[in-house]
Amino acid sequence: MDIHGEKILILDFGSQYTQLIARRVREAHVYCELHPFDMDIEAIREYGAQGIILSGGPKSVYDEGAPVVEEALFDLGIPVLGICYGMQLLARHFGGRVVPAGKREYGHADLVSKGSPGPLFDVFFIEGKSPVWMSHGDHVEQIPAGFEVAARTDNAPVAAIQNVDRDLYGVQFHPEVNHTPRGEILINTFVRKICGCKGQWTPGHIIEDAVRRIRKQAGNDKVVLGLSGGVDSSVAAALINRAIGDQLTCVFVDNGLLRLAEGDQVMATFAKNMGVKVFRVNAEDRFLKALASVTDPEQKRRIIGNLFIEIFEEEAARITDATWLAQGTIYPDVIESAGGKTGKAHSIKSHHNVGGLPEFMKLKLLEPLKELFKDEVRAIGEELGLPHQMVWRHPFPGPGLGVRILGEVKKEYADILRQADAIYIDELYASGYYDKISQAFAVFLPVKSVGVMGDGRTYEYVIALRAVETKDFMTAGWTKLPYDLMGRISTRIINEVRGVNRVVYDISSKPPSTIEWE
Ligand code: XMP
Repeated sequence: MDIHGEKILILDFGSQYTQLIARRVREAHVYCELHPFDMDIEAIREYGAQGIILSGGPKSVYDEGAPVVEEALFDLGIPVLGICYGMQLLARHFGGRVVPAGKREYGHADLVSKGSPGPLFDVFFIEGKSPVWMSHGDHVEQIPAGFEVAARTDNAPVAAIQNVDRDLYGVQFHPEVNHTPRGEILINTFVRKICGCKGQWTPGHIIEDAVRRIRKQAGNDKVVLGLSGGVDSSVAAALINRAIGDQLTCVFVDNGLLRLAEGDQVMATFAKNMGVKVFRVNAEDRFLKALASVTDPEQKRRIIGNLFIEIFEEEAARITDATWLAQGTIYPDVIESAGGKTGKAHSIKSHHNVGGLPEFMKLKLLEPLKELFKDEVRAIGEELGLPHQMVWRHPFPGPGLGVRILGEVKKEYADILRQADAIYIDELYASGYYDKISQAFAVFLPVKSVGVMGDGRTYEYVIALRAVETKDFMTAGWTKLPYDLMGRISTRIINEVRGVNRVVYDISSKPPSTIEWE
């Protein structure tokens, strides 16, 4: 089966939500790709999508130089769904009028059906209504000939338009965001019912397809992969192992800045349980030496990143005659580095990725996850038999504890931090909080404060605890953990970890703080 045989093309006008549209389409089990709005019409024709979605965007359609699609797009006979800016563009193209709204509408609104809802909207409404999320400054004042108004809100008399005969639809609201509770249904209906896609993009099929492609690409060649224990490199390793077994060699560089027992877990999962060839390089001493007396966070990052590459390169050359370098690059990394012609920085961050390797060893790149979003990577990881906890683990920065030990990194500090962090995470799992939090970790503060233990005074280090909730890691709020849980964690850390007599909880949001402390 060709799982790319049915697909949706998403043209990006620079909305902060464009990637969410793609994720909703994928959740409907249909492949889709995001391309800049000015994709060449011939390329669009050749691409052969079953449907096209026009995203939102920050501009107004009547602005000079406002982004437009090639006119012929609407003559291709392919169903189109325009979202926000996309709808305004659609309306204007067919002769409607778009004007600035009296006031910018931002937030929840009740969408009310007008007339008969038609094929796209009929399951979207419940008793003629559906709550939606609005974020716009313009609206369609006059709809084009051949279209009808499908829905309105109190502030937007034209909140959805359609030309059912030509399969052209426009919505002023954002069905892709979670604040539109039935938005997923709308996008599902568009891709499955209007565009006629069957939904072949499932974890099982993705794996089958990837296995086939890896085999074809690599043939009998050897492949080397830098395993970090993170989700992406782990899933890539499991997938490539499924495809070509012992043609794959993994190098796992233990930099001494990993979490408690992390190195052993990686070895147990891959080498022992899955039979993957993994070489563990114990490089703690080299990293600590390189970091001695360095306090600047960015310099620490650079040192850790460069040394990782150096060691990986040495080891890879020594233990394998690979001609391919496998990487766990995922779709958001691809979109990000493509940049797009919209000139807009996409919101997912990748600038930190220390795991990224420069061009070296003249290896060809094998990137089996590069079409997948993180949630898809996790889903196939589970399907490939990776442990649930590994697949759903919170993100861990490339420089590891190196940026969670403030200032100079020392083994003593790393050992204290590892133990404190393990207790913290352990308690979060036990209380059921771990999965509700986006990222939680302990931070080592190299300051001493006075305490009292038994009859004596102590003078020991401080551990800070961080827990945040976020969707995109660009903004984040701190988690309101229950006091009794915080109390239990603090007591355990102070009792069980030698060298710590004080635990504090970080109550800063991002911005203006960041998630990590360095
Ligand atoms: P900040 O601290 O910038 O973190 O709010 C946002 C997300 O990025 C992760 N992060 C990193 N990841 N290398 C990485 O691979 C890094 O140097 C790095 N710094 C921060 C952080 O853990 C959070 O998920």
